[in-house]
Order: sequence, then structure tokens, then C-alpha cells
Amino acid sequence: MTALVIDNIGSLVTNDPSLGQGPLGIVADASVVIEDDAVVAVGKAGATGDERLDAEGGCVLPGFVDSHTHLVFAGDRAAEFSARMAGQPYDGGGIVVTTEATRAASTSELDRLTLRRVHEARRHGTTTLEIKSGYGLDVANEARCLDVAGHHTAETTFLGAHFVPPEHAGRPDEYIDLVCGEMLAAAAGRARWIDAFCETGAFDADQCRRVLEAGRAAGLGLRLHGNQLGHGPGVQLAVECGCASVDHCTYLSDPDIEALAASDTVATFLPASDFSTRQPYPDARRAIDAGVTVAIASNCNPGSSYTTSIPFCVALAVRDMHMTIDEAVQAATLGGAQALRRGDVGRLSPGSAGQAIVLDAPFGRAGRHHSQQSTHDALTRRGCRRPVPEPAWRRPADRPGGGPRSRWP
Ligand code: NIG
Repeated sequence: MTALVIDNIGSLVTNDPSLGQGPLGIVADASVVIEDDAVVAVGKAGATGDERLDAEGGCVLPGFVDSHTHLVFAGDRAAEFSARMAGQPYDGGGIVVTTEATRAASTSELDRLTLRRVHEARRHGTTTLEIKSGYGLDVANEARCLDVAGHHTAETTFLGAHFVPPEHAGRPDEYIDLVCGEMLAAAAGRARWIDAFCETGAFDADQCRRVLEAGRAAGLGLRLHGNQLGHGPGVQLAVECGCASVDHCTYLSDPDIEALAASDTVATFLPASDFSTRQPYPDARRAIDAGVTVAIASNCNPGSSYTTSIPFCVALAVRDMHMTIDEAVQAATLGGAQALRRGDVGRLSPGSAGQAIVLDAPFGRAGRHHSQQSTHDALTRRGCRRPVPEPAWRRPADRPGGGPRSRWP
């Protein structure tokens, strides 16, 4: 077994308060020892090992955990974005445009496009990634999209209930029958999670409840898109069903916040969507102060949020959602792990996965004395030199589909 030591770390963010200072558990002048892809020791600088990576006084963070992406798609929605900038509101209707292009693409083309986005996410420091289906919207294409997603991550989510496809237009209940029946039967062996888009124009609370209950019966974990475009039943439904996460939460009422605070459901904010759709930003401050567990994710998709950059989302969370830098960094690491019910990622403590980002900026100083733009710099332009080591996020060998492994670009 080879031990890799990341040494000469100015500030090590462990996300374990028992190991260091504050909620981030920051250890100054630190080292981390990684063996067999797992952290085996965290301590003062100067630890020895077979291989040494000098952090040169920079900050080391757990790799980002992006718990919400729609990376499997083909086609382009630039015209929709331009229309939006000219005043057209976002209503999710463009999902069917992407569905048409995705259905028309070959599996190898979808895989190539997805791999490119996965590499881009890694360059931004993401080491754990969830990927949803949701642009196939028929049995064969949802299965195909899940197979492609599964080539790149074990965190695959079946989102057949993303939008009513044209062939079922005006008959959403009939489509939900298909989602809960034949489509779920095909998806169950390919997905870890099930999700639905609970929103006016997509699916109502009863339809989403049916999807979540069917998914639970099929052995899948539950997640939900809710409260993206207005106040609605999504958050309450997610809490009622025990979803691991309810995502967007752009519009939160007092009862929504109370329900979340009293639950295990993580509120996952997707600020790049609010940026790209000109929505207001979620009131993260109110949620955090009430005791809600929060995450930040990219929501990378061709319609509402075309970015894989978690550092950009962190910057938005600080600038526009009034989260502190520490809160935003924790939400993008530990919060994402909690949203995926993963205890092994989002932290750097003995026993956790050895997935780290080495920055060439001292986070402590950037976080406490620089503007939020500096932090963005710290996390992107000046930082994210290389995640260490290559993360074990590939499809487990025993899952159906197999396929090419994601490699470093
Ligand atoms: O999370 N809201 C639903 N799904 C995506 C958008 C999908 C699209 O517009 O293509 C989202 O924002």
C-alpha cells in the first residue's frame, strides 16, 4: 500500500469540528495522509509517506460534491437563453427541445458529451457527482440515459417525471402511469435515486407523490425538484415523503422552513439556475438561521443552468444569498454529501475518501479578509490545481451497462 502525504498545508478544511477550528474543522499548518484512496491521518505538517505533494502553504478542501446535475443531454438551447434575456420567463418548456435532440443522439454521442462535462466538472474541483436522466422521457431513452450516467457515477437518478413528453401532451396522469410502471421497471436496476419536478406546468403534488412512493417501493432513494418558479407544495411533499433532498427552494414560506428544519431533508440551493433564469435567489440566510441543513449544487443542464462550476455557485451563494464563505464552502462539500446520504465524502478525516482539492490560496485569509470575488479566484483561477487522487466515482462493476471509465483529461 502506498501512502500519499499532502504536506505543508496552510489551512486544511476537514469539515470535522473535532479535528480543528470552527464548524469547518480547520487545521492550520497541516498534513493529510491518504492510503488506498482513503484518509488515514490528519495532523500537523511534516508527516511522512511514499509520495509527497507539497501544498506550498495553500488551502486543502474536500473535493466538491455536486449533488444535482442533468449532464446527459444533446442539443442546444442558446435561443431560449437569448429569448429569456429579452424578457421571456423560464417555464421548463424547453425540456422537450432537449428531449428531441437527446432521443436523436446515438448512445456513443451522449456518452462523449457527458464525459466532456464530467471532465469540466473535475477541473472545477468536483470529485463526487450526481447525474439525472430526464431528457429521454420514454422507456428506452430513459434507460439509455441512465446507462450513460452510470458510466460516470454511481449516483444516478431516474427523472422520468421531468416533463410530459409531446406524445402524452395534455395527459399527464397517463404519462405518470408509464413512469411508475414500465419506465421505473427499466430504471430501477440502473438508478440509485428517483426524482420528480414538482412545479406548475410540470407535475402536481399528487403526481409526484405517486412517483416517489413507486420509487421507494422499487428500492430507490428519494429526491425532489421543488419551489423553483414559485411557492408550491414541493418542500412539504419532500419532507412528508422523507426525501434526502429537495432541490431549488427558491421560494420558501415560513412553514416550509419550519418543516425543513424539523426534518432530515436537505435544502439544496441551485443558484446558477436563479442567475440564468433571472429568478430571485433563495433566502438561504433565513433557512440556515432556522437550522435547515443546506447544500449547493450546480444543476448543470442546457436550459436553466449551463455550468458545471461549483466555485461559481459558491460565489453566487456568498454574493447574492448572503451565506458566509465558510457556509458556502461547507454547503458545497459536506452539504452535498448529506444530500446524497454519503458519509464518506465531503470531509477529510480519518476513514473518509481521500478526495481533496489543493488550492494555491490560503483559504483562511481569502475567506476572512478578501471580497467574495477573491474567493471565487481562490477556488478557480488560482486554485483547484488537481484533485487528489483520482476519485472512485466510476460505475461499480456489478451495475448493468458498464462502459468507458471517466479519466482525467
Ligand atoms: O432543475 N427544473 C427542472 N429541471 C431543470 C431544468 C431543465 C431544463 O430546462 O432543461 C432544473 O432547472
